[in-house]
Amino acid sequence: MAQHQSENGFRAFRVTKKRVESDIITSFYLEPTDAGPLWTVKPGQYITLRVPVANDPVLKTYSVSSDPSDPSHYRITVKREAGFNGVPDGVGSCWLHDQVAIGDTIDIAAPRGVFCLDEDSTRPVVLLSGGVGLTPMVSMLHCLKHSARDVYFLHACENGRVHALRDEVMAQTSDRIQARFVYRMPEDVDQFDASGMIDKAFLQSTLPIDDYDVYLCGPVPFMMAMYGLLQELGVPKARIAYEFFGKAASLDQLVSKAAPVKVATKAASKAAPTVQALTFLTDPDAWAVADETPAPVQAASQGQVNFRKSDASVDWDGSANSLLELAENCGLEPEFSCRSGICNACKCTLVSGEVEYFEQPLIAPEKGKVLICCSRPKGTVVLDI
Ligand SMILES: Cc1cc2nc3c(=O)[nH]c(=O)nc-3n(C[C@H](O)[C@H](O)[C@H](O)COP(=O)(O)OP(=O)(O)OC[C@H]3O[C@@H](n4cnc5c(N)ncnc54)[C@H](O)[C@@H]3O)c2cc1C
Ligand code: FES
Repeated sequence: MAQHQSENGFRAFRVTKKRVESDIITSFYLEPTDAGPLWTVKPGQYITLRVPVANDPVLKTYSVSSDPSDPSHYRITVKREAGFNGVPDGVGSCWLHDQVAIGDTIDIAAPRGVFCLDEDSTRPVVLLSGGVGLTPMVSMLHCLKHSARDVYFLHACENGRVHALRDEVMAQTSDRIQARFVYRMPEDVDQFDASGMIDKAFLQSTLPIDDYDVYLCGPVPFMMAMYGLLQELGVPKARIAYEFFGKAASLDQLVSKAAPVKVATKAASKAAPTVQALTFLTDPDAWAVADETPAPVQAASQGQVNFRKSDASVDWDGSANSLLELAENCGLEPEFSCRSGICNACKCTLVSGEVEYFEQPLIAPEKGKVLICCSRPKGTVVLDI
């Protein structure tokens, strides 16, 4: 699709529709100005927007919330991140909400991301979201409409005033596709399935006694809580895919470091759990997946990585996926954000040696610099970390 790439892989898209979805969330419909076809997008992927702030544009990523098979437009659905008590407003989201109008153009880079629906799986699917984390789930839901799989769309938010895309989700429900909404602080006019927080009993009474794929996205505390609950229910980690809407991280590490959280709000389930045994607890196939040790990363070549400033040297033996991961395994704390070659936060000086990228940077770093989140060494390298 090279003919539809502009400078640095960005293309201009026109905002053809702006739709208020809730008190704090608005959707933007985007069509390419070059009249070429949309890039292919997998259900769950995000696009990257160039936000023109002052002299230095910033890149912001938003999940595509529209039907991935719709060739006419991408839709993104954005929460306005308002500042308070002297904290400035969020740059990208407030620009979109407050300044971008129908007819305006935005530079956009092609869809990316590995938080995608596994379309080859035949297992039932649980789409579990909190707040604006429902956006990739809605895209997946549209795709699942055309499959034979059972789907459980579970969404938690404050109340009906901030609940986006509710009608669209309800319109997809069927014998096979169920949606449940849990409101933490419902208002009198709200229609919802449970109030409070999603708890273990709610999940047990809602989800199938089965082996399923889970997709999880939402605020970090929500994701940590759900990740813990799912594991208490015996869901193998390998069956839980998740995405952070902020700095990428490992839920495993976050949950293991966190102190037990006291839940101040009442739990969503009113009744005691009726389901005590879940078949996948004894399904050897499921456990085989859980017990699988990840295959070691193929080393690009054997060599040494020297972190010069930290006075640390370590062999590249394939135990880390990237130079960033290797540095972290050594106890170093280099800067990062997206961990996928988009934001350049992990850019550092390559003093000597060569690297290879297993994911191409969105904006190639200047000569002598490398992005360590998406690269591996080719032989021995020295980094200024
Ligand atoms: C893969 C991915 C997909 C995403 N998909 C979506 C999506 O579908 N919908 C969506 O709404 N978002 C999504 N996001 C989040 C989105 O990319 C932005 O991070 C989000 O919109 C906030 O960006 P911002 O520029 O508005 O805020 P920023 O300017 O980055 O600020 C973030 C927050 O910090 C506060 N803040 C600003 N300056 C300061 C300061 N000096 N001190 C303390 N606080 C400060 C702001 O008020 C704001 O609340 C996604 C993120 C990722 C990584
Ligand atoms: S962390 Fe964003 S490019 Fe490396």
